[in-house]
Order: sequence, then structure tokens, then C-alpha cells
Amino acid sequence: MMDIGANLRTRLEAAVGAPHVLTDLAAMQPYLLDWRGRYQGRAFAVVRPGNTAEVAAVVGACADAQVGIVPQGGNTGMCGGATPDDSGHAVVLSLLRMNRVRATDPANATITVEAGVPLASVQAAAAAAGLNFPLSLGSEGSCTIGGNLSTNAGGTAVLRFGNARDLVLGLEVVLADGRVWDGLRGLRKDNTGYDLKHLFVGAEGTLGVITAAVLKLFPAPAHRATALAAVADPQRAVDLLRGLKSSLGDRLVGFELISGVALAMCRKHHPELPDPLPGHAWYVLVQADDTAAGGGLPADVERALGKALERGDAVDVAIAQSGEQAQTLWALRENISEAQRREGLNIKHDISLPVSVIPEFLVTAETALNRAFPGVRFVVFGHLGDGNLHYNLSAPANESSEHFLANAPAANRIVHDMVAARAGSISAEHGIGQLKRAELTHYKSALEIELMRAVKFALDPSGLLNPGKVL
Ligand code: FAD
Ligand code: MLT
Ligand code: ZN
Repeated sequence: MMDIGANLRTRLEAAVGAPHVLTDLAAMQPYLLDWRGRYQGRAFAVVRPGNTAEVAAVVGACADAQVGIVPQGGNTGMCGGATPDDSGHAVVLSLLRMNRVRATDPANATITVEAGVPLASVQAAAAAAGLNFPLSLGSEGSCTIGGNLSTNAGGTAVLRFGNARDLVLGLEVVLADGRVWDGLRGLRKDNTGYDLKHLFVGAEGTLGVITAAVLKLFPAPAHRATALAAVADPQRAVDLLRGLKSSLGDRLVGFELISGVALAMCRKHHPELPDPLPGHAWYVLVQADDTAAGGGLPADVERALGKALERGDAVDVAIAQSGEQAQTLWALRENISEAQRREGLNIKHDISLPVSVIPEFLVTAETALNRAFPGVRFVVFGHLGDGNLHYNLSAPANESSEHFLANAPAANRIVHDMVAARAGSISAEHGIGQLKRAELTHYKSALEIELMRAVKFALDPSGLLNPGKVL
């Protein structure tokens, strides 16, 4: 390996410059541990190219050396997809230096950005152009567009705008052999053969390295209403969703379910956050946007929530009276992940189900899991509006999280079997990574796995792109 290694290192340094080829362990470490702290990887080097040609040179050098490549954006993924294995034989290719907004086209309502641009920067660039890029995740300060597209990220506005896949019009991708595919078109209609970009969206870096994208922009909200509602139970939350959909139509943008346990855990680790509606078992965070200048959004939302209170769909409501109050309500939702991480290693289930079966699933799953793991803590929250729940389990109060984590396979089987039996998905938005490879082959049909392997072989016959992930 050494002679290949020496030659490869020379070629990598020639490609990106020596300062951007990290081999020192301490310098590499931030790139080798996943956000959740579940995967510690090792790498031959961490390489930080600054443009597409440099990415192509890096990939070409690794292809010649037959060394694996792990593309990495913000390293906020939840499934270990951006973390190399412990062989030390792979190169981590960080896209963070590719952080330019290449073009904004307000008339075409598109923006062209490089893969390493943080999601929050894309949102800001869209706003600066008087438009809206609606993808929104709790990690938006550090996750990147390349990672968002590679995981087909969802987030809190899927109900209204769809996933990352629905927001992309064109891609630039470096293929496994180092060639560059320029598919950076900003067309909403283009029926010229297979829609190749959709192979790379959601592929988690296993089919190509995304280096840039053309993204859709939308009219900016002229008015926004945000409210927290306390609800008696998940069935009432689903009833509230239906009520708000019919009264607010496509102005309803966000509808997040938050259990009392999840909210309490969030406030335990973020004590600066308020408790607007104390003492309830379930909550829903609602956001509605109106792009029309006039519009009576605040009054419409107040009326709709008033009706919900009359029907008993909600038992109490707090409507944000300012942007600051709205941000505080969202902080209660978006800090749950971080709070649960501080609470300790946990067993996550990023599942999706038809919205109508979620209330029954929650009752049935809780009964089964309480029987299997007495004292387990259910940290349940997520994007109920699009049927995606984060059904996360934390250790019982008197058990270490390391010890509890050993139950993950058994807990996954209980939860994922129930989800599969209800025509749901074992990975709604986080992807497969290295965490759910076995689950994928367990729940996908042999034909689906065969078709995925055929696509993988066609685009990466040597298996160099993100080895050990997804398949
Ligand atoms: P990374 O973690 O760096 O990589 C993720 C995957 O994409 C890896 O397989 C990697 O190899 C691949 N990849 C990265 N960049 C490229 C590229 N340029 N080309 C090819 N492959 C690439 N996710 C959601 O979907 N919805 C949420 O609501 C959500 N909330 C979150 C909240 C918090 C607090 C945190 C920490 C994470 C959350 N996530 C959520 C998970 C994560 O933020 C998303 O999966 C995000 O899209 C990952 O982006 P990233 O740039 O960090 O990618
Ligand atoms: C979120 O929506 O906050 C994350 O995707 C959920 C998680 O951390 O499990
Ligand atoms: Zn989520």
C-alpha cells in the first residue's frame, strides 16, 4: 500500500495543493466522527478541493489507485454516510471549500450553487434576491446543499414544498472515473431521455460526487404565522392537520408533532427556552405563510385555531406575536435532536407512514416496546404533516445509554416490522448510510436490491464511491 500511498499523496497534493491534503490524525479527526458520535472512522487522507476540476483530479487519482472516496459536506448526517470505515484506506473528500453561489436568476426563479454552500447561505442568497429557497432543517447552519441533495433531505417544509429532490433542476457531478457531467440546466420541463440527476439525488455519494446544483426558488412569504397547539393525543393532531389544511390550503407550510417527553428533554438541555403551554402530553407546531401582499393570514390562522379549540382538536394554543416569539417556538422543536444527543446515545427511527395510521402505530409500538424494554423513554417528534416521525428511544433513566444501545437491533426489528406492515418506510429522510444497510436488504424486495446494484455497477463498477454505504 505504501508505494500506492506515496504516489497517491503526491497526486492529491498536485490536485488541490498540499495545505488541503490532511494526513495528520488530529487535523483529520473532525471529519472522521459522525455528528451522533456513533461512527469513528479512519482515512488515508482528508482532501479539500476548491473547484470542480480539483474534485475531478482527486477522483481520478483515487480511481487510478483503486482507493475509496467518501464525499462529505457538513457532516451532519444521521446514518454514518459521510464517515469512512476503520480500514484507513479511503480518502474523505470534503466539499466545504466549494462554497460559491455561482448565479441567481430571479426571472427564472433559480439559483446555481456549489455543493459546499451551507443550506442557510442558500436561504439567505434567495432572500437577498427577494425569493425563497424553502428547504429547512434543524442543521441548516452547517449542512450543505451537496449533502441535502445526496440524502434527499426533508425537513419542516416538505408538506408544502417537497423534499430536496423536488427542489432541484440541474446537477454538476464528478463521476467515479473522474469525468464531469454538466447537467446544470434550469428548466422546469426537459424530457430528453432518462432524468439522470435523479440517480444522484438520494444516492448518498455512492454514484457520483455532486459539485453544483441549480435549485428552484419560490415567491418569498409576505406574511408568516406560527403557533404552538397543545393536543390531547396524536389522533387529535391528525384531525387538527386536516382542519388546518382545509381552512388554510397551501398556506400551511409546517406541521410538526412534539411529544411532551421530547419537549421536556429539549428544555432540560436548553433551559433558556420557555414552556408556553405547560403540562400537556402532545403538541403541534404550526407554520403558515402567505405570499400575497394583502392577505388576512393572521386573522385566518386565529379563526382556524379557534375552530380547532371549539372542536376539541386543540386544547390550548399559543400564537407567536412577533418574529422573535416564532423563532423561540421553532427553537423548542429544532433543538430536540441536540438535546437528545446530550442526553446520550439513542436509538433513532426515522420512519414515514400514511398519516392516517400514525395514531394507531404509536399506541401499538409503545405497548410492544414497553414490554421489551421496560422504562424506555419515547422521544417522539417530527414532520407529522408529511407522515415522517422521528420515533427515537432513549435509555431508561437508570440505564447507561451505551448499554441501552445494544438493544438497537431488537428495537429496530419491532419498530420497522410494524412500519413495514403498515406500508411505511424505514428511512423517511435521513437515508441508509452504514447504519441501515442490513435493514434495507431486509425490507426491500430482492428485485429492488438487484436493480439498485445494477445502477451502482453501471456508474461505479469498481465500488470506489462511498464504499460500505447504502448497499
Ligand atoms: P454529510 O453528513 O456531510 O453527508 C451526508 C451524505 O451525503 C453522506 O452519505 C455523504 O457521503 C453524502 N454527500 C455529502 N456531500 C456530497 C456531495 N457533494 N456529493 C455526493 N455525496 C455527498 N435531515 C433531514 O432530512 N431532515 C431534518 O429535519 C433533519 N434535521 C436535522 C437536525 C439536526 C440537528 C441534525 C444534526 C441533522 C438533521 N438532519 C436532518 C440530517 C442531516 O442534516 C441531513 O441529512 C443533511 O442533508 C446532511 O447534509 P450534510 O452536508 O451534513 O451531509
Ligand atoms: C429532525 O427533524 O430534527 C431530525 O431529522 C430528527 C432526528 O434528529 O432524529
Ligand atoms: Zn427530521
